[in-house]
Amino acid sequence: MKLAVWDPDEPFRRWRDALIQHAGELRLSVQVIDATAEPDAQADFALVWKPPEAWLAGQQQLRAVFNLAAGVDALLPLMRAHLAGVPLIRLEDAGMGRQMADYVSEAVLHAWRRMDDYAALQARATWEPLVLQARTGFHVGLLGLGQMGLAVARRLRELEFPLLACTRSGRLRPHAAFDGPLFDIDHLPEFLARCRVLVVLLPLTADTRRLLDYATLRELPQGAYLINAGRGAVLDHDDLIDLLDEGHLGGATLDVFEPEPLPAAHRLWRQPRVRITPHVAALTLVGPAAAQVMHKIAALERGDHPGGVVDTRLGY
Ligand code: GLV
Repeated sequence: MKLAVWDPDEPFRRWRDALIQHAGELRLSVQVIDATAEPDAQADFALVWKPPEAWLAGQQQLRAVFNLAAGVDALLPLMRAHLAGVPLIRLEDAGMGRQMADYVSEAVLHAWRRMDDYAALQARATWEPLVLQARTGFHVGLLGLGQMGLAVARRLRELEFPLLACTRSGRLRPHAAFDGPLFDIDHLPEFLARCRVLVVLLPLTADTRRLLDYATLRELPQGAYLINAGRGAVLDHDDLIDLLDEGHLGGATLDVFEPEPLPAAHRLWRQPRVRITPHVAALTLVGPAAAQVMHKIAALERGDHPGGVVDTRLGY
């Protein structure tokens, strides 16, 4: 079978070597094509990161498309337009959950230990111990409880922070473990009112675009801290800046923006209580991703249903 890889961010041979290794372990015979070098070659399966629309449109015999990331918002409209009916499959954790748990727990600890306040004191050469809020009262709310949210929840549980979560349906997916209070999206205000820290790990869909605007973020308690490592367009950044200026929000750690890269002139870069990273919270790891994709292909070949198939109606 032929696998086409389109990933402008990674040397092709890394994907090729890892895919061939895992195919061998599964006794699958594959030919791996560098689609960026041979755009006209037709493939049975495609592994893609930010593929051009014209290339996808020209693929006539695809049986499935694998998104080399967790979020499928950029790819879904192209699939709908050109490959309707072809399953789109996303990575499920594949080594990203651990990275996301590292990223978010650092930010939660940063907020809890008042590191922005100490940075401001340091700038004035001021030695002043600050009051530390009891950990038992420092509620962390997870908005979105998919693979990334669950990995973060596990780590924060180990760190003994009290957790709550809000998801679209307010129900856990099969096999998902979370024992804190769980709200559905219709109860977002009640959920937000209880979050000392809000961790946003939502997929970007028509329903979540600009979900977090001034009115919504205002439901967070005074001084709350925001962490967004899902998708930038879920958050209205101008409204966030207004709420920081008014002192309603205490600070933010942001990994995702719209557009990316965040333009150098954007006001966010100059907010003293905002920390910015360039969409690095959880990167795709070639080894685990190639292994997972090959296992999913093996499942398709057997006629089974692999995990991670995107529900095109829901958008994730
Ligand atoms: C990265 O943002 C991803 O979707 O995996």
